[in-house]
Amino acid sequence: MRYTGNKVIEEDMQGKATMMPANIQINNKKLYIESYGCQMNFSDSEIVASILIDEGYTTVADYKDADVILVNTCSIRENAEQRVFNRLRNYQAVKKTRPGAIIGMLGCMAERLKSQLLERDRLVDLVVGPDAYRSLPELLQNAESGQKAVNVLLSREETYADISPVRLDNNGISAFISIMRGCDNMCSFCVVPFTRGRERSRDPESIVREARELLLKGYKEITLLGQNVDSYKWNITSKGEIIDPKEDVVRFSGLLEKVALVSKELRIRFSTSHPKDMNDDVIETMAKYDNICEYIHLPVQSGNNNILDKMNRGYTREWYFERIDSIRRIMPNCAISTDIIIGFCDETDQDFEETYDLMDRVEFDFAYMFKYSERPKTLAERNFIDNVPEEIKSERLQKIIDLQRAKSLLSNQKMIGKECQVLIEGISKRSDNQLFGRNSQNMVVIINKDDLKKGQYVDVLVDSCSSATLFATVIKKNNN
Ligand code: SAH
Ligand code: SF4
Ligand code: F3S
Repeated sequence: MRYTGNKVIEEDMQGKATMMPANIQINNKKLYIESYGCQMNFSDSEIVASILIDEGYTTVADYKDADVILVNTCSIRENAEQRVFNRLRNYQAVKKTRPGAIIGMLGCMAERLKSQLLERDRLVDLVVGPDAYRSLPELLQNAESGQKAVNVLLSREETYADISPVRLDNNGISAFISIMRGCDNMCSFCVVPFTRGRERSRDPESIVREARELLLKGYKEITLLGQNVDSYKWNITSKGEIIDPKEDVVRFSGLLEKVALVSKELRIRFSTSHPKDMNDDVIETMAKYDNICEYIHLPVQSGNNNILDKMNRGYTREWYFERIDSIRRIMPNCAISTDIIIGFCDETDQDFEETYDLMDRVEFDFAYMFKYSERPKTLAERNFIDNVPEEIKSERLQKIIDLQRAKSLLSNQKMIGKECQVLIEGISKRSDNQLFGRNSQNMVVIINKDDLKKGQYVDVLVDSCSSATLFATVIKKNNN
């Protein structure tokens, strides 16, 4: 952050600049935060930045300039953790030029490895888990005075509902809002329930308030975040009393409706839906409001019932197909993406073929595909053997990547000659004369710049495509 008159220019990790008022107390300490992992982690870093800016810290774009380097980490696969360990070695170099600098680990690896991180290889001075960020100012003081600084307590209540996040990855157009924390599902491959604790939902009023504030600041799109948004449930009054009768309980479809009603100008997205819990109420609410984007990320993980059972996912292949049919019946234009894990314990060629077949039939618009990576303490680590050889995992992964590339191209080709609405997000990487944005289906669309600005909605006609991008001509500019 640097100061220019009565304004502060805040530079985020990407070095982009946004204006914010300079009415905060300054302690001259410079903070650098780097985030890995899922959108929840990026959203949490914004809460951390808010807590520390209130203490007078200012954010910097280069870790070499920082007094405090925080790395918000992910444990989902082994290679995610490896990347962080490599990065920590770079940070160590800062200690040579600035011996007082503090290096802290936040997030899921902090929660998983706890004080081992301080004792074992001394790569960090501070370890703070996802539910303990309010204790950061105090822990930073402890670390500065050479004391042990660890807080990895998980909470059943913490939702940080009262903290206004400082938007770090700031295009000024789209922002995340966490609507819940933790996960109670215990999928057998997954470390998240151990690193994020029990599921808890956030007060809907605080979510709507945050959406309104973002709208007032000029944001045009919000993404509601949770590990399983379909199990969102709020049944407590503002006085903390449990609501009865049950009709008053706010579930995800009710929350979506409340947020959609904030303004027609605000687009709503959400992630992640769980096939076992995503009901028709949610799909019908999406269909009812034009500003709820027609896009669902519905991770299937596998197309084989034995594997799904071993994964403890709580649904079958047939159930998943039925959910896809419901989406396509109620919202024919809805885009659908998924996550796939190949090479889970005991997965045979035949089992894999069923995953391939499911992907072939559903024709996802997009897919995130992973090799199974065994994680300590999970049900799978305790009960099964990670017995699919690495070469077979690689082969299977390549097969579905090739299949999905063809399906993504097909999905984009189907858009050629069609009209859609695009929210402009910024200048295209390809050329300064072009802008990029997304349509409701989350497809990236490139248009000519002309006199258009980011944050504007335009109606376009799609002319051509690649497997990742649509190219379009603007046919109508909206007055906003
Ligand atoms: N809550 C979301 C997923 C969160 S993790 C859901 O239930 O779908 C994101 C994705 O990482 C998962 O969907 C899964 O495909 C993948 N993943 C999780 N654990 C993994 C592991 N041990 N090995 C490989 N991929 C994993
Ligand atoms: Fe992990 Fe399953 Fe929870 Fe998703 S729903 S975070 S995969 S345990
Ligand atoms: Fe990773 Fe934790 Fe998210 S393990 S995927 S950062 S919840």
